[in-house]
Amino acid sequence: MANKIRILIVDDVQEGREMLQRLLDFEPDMEVVGFATTGVEAIEKAQELKPDVILMDINMPDMDGITATERITALVPVSVVMISVQSDRDYMRRAMRVGAIDYLPKPPSADELYSTVRNAYARKPVPRKDEPKERQKIAGNGKLIVVYSPQGGSGVTTVAVNVAVGLMDEMHRTVLVDADVQFGDAAIHLAVDMERNILHLAKAANELDPELIDAVLVRHGSGLRVLTAPKSVLDALDSRDFNADTVEKIVRALLGQYAYVVVNTPTMIDPVTVRLFLLADLLLLVGVPTLPAARNIVEVMKLFDQSEEFNRDKIVFALNRIPTDRKSGAIEPEEIAKVLRLQIHAMIPSAEKQMMKSVNRGTPVIVEDNQSPGKELRQLVEVLRARLADNEEAVESVTAQPQKRGGFLSGLLGN
Ligand SMILES: Nc1ncnc2c1ncn2[C@@H]1O[C@H](COP(=O)(O)OP(=O)(O)O)[C@@H](O)[C@H]1O
Ligand SMILES: [Mg+2]
Repeated sequence: MANKIRILIVDDVQEGREMLQRLLDFEPDMEVVGFATTGVEAIEKAQELKPDVILMDINMPDMDGITATERITALVPVSVVMISVQSDRDYMRRAMRVGAIDYLPKPPSADELYSTVRNAYARKPVPRKDEPKERQKIAGNGKLIVVYSPQGGSGVTTVAVNVAVGLMDEMHRTVLVDADVQFGDAAIHLAVDMERNILHLAKAANELDPELIDAVLVRHGSGLRVLTAPKSVLDALDSRDFNADTVEKIVRALLGQYAYVVVNTPTMIDPVTVRLFLLADLLLLVGVPTLPAARNIVEVMKLFDQSEEFNRDKIVFALNRIPTDRKSGAIEPEEIAKVLRLQIHAMIPSAEKQMMKSVNRGTPVIVEDNQSPGKELRQLVEVLRARLADNEEAVESVTAQPQKRGGFLSGLLGN
């Protein structure tokens, strides 16, 4: 059968390996493709066999399961499930942070094992081997993509999360920053922890180093790093550290370490969002085909047009939640484009069910590449890649000119 779930079992104890194999042998859609008895062997076998799922015992003689998981997930797209007798939550959380997708008690029940393996398979990171080599770049000189909409509920967070996962591959380390400090929910979309969050970096904005940043970033199963918003709105309100300057410092530090920095923003325009608009290499504007949304985008475009520092050319416009039913009464995309005098770069259909399922599972829809709306989001990622490649040339030819300081947007917000 071509599409069986290929599983690698890692355990230093023979009974442990056999017990899992016996259970997995009963399932027609699962296949044990190999075994490893040490952490080092696990890393080798993962690269050689390219399994879909690794069942990883936590305690091994040469290397602990967490270290092995971290190395493996950095090398190959695979879902790692940790298996342990001790159900130490802290330990498991650490494992999840370095890339494990789930965990199981030892010994697991058959049903638990099957459903966890299937779920892990569904969340397997997407390999991106189709990139032409010359376009690949090592991280270090990152690009900033700020996702924004003047209309709440347009899908900013949905688009930001999907685009971040879509942009990331082995050669392009990517981080998603949730700058919606009060109600940011990127962590909810990705089902990751919010304990360590953007406020920790804002507080240490003057002494940011890679080690501290690494300690605060959370790792999603896809390999994406996430700087989450705080869990509690009270924490956001209490913080004196989160402002345009500290956000700029955080973003600049991340651009030094990552190829792509994708930012989720709140609806309200304030000094932080304005600073992000100005810093952005691309501003990914998200709209929906409704009258209020169109009106708000017109307003925001007026604001951009009055600003000397803001370059309108860096806008990429995505129209989201387009009804699939032609008779829905929604405004036609062509009309939106005309009214806004804005080219529509991506049209993402409305897909309530898929979106709800993806948030419940913490797996962005873009992972399922051949169906809508994953397909359209993937096209949007290609647009962004192409625009960023063009940008590079454009930037080179303008850098000789003196930078304009101040200006309308900044003045408006005392920025
Ligand atoms: N293309 C889409 N089709 C259906 N539902 C969508 C789509 N995009 C977003 N949604 C849903 O709309 C709601 C708001 O999305 P969200 O990304 O949180 O918006 P924002 O961040 O702009 O407030 C969520 O429930 C999300 O699942
Ligand atoms: Mg949001």
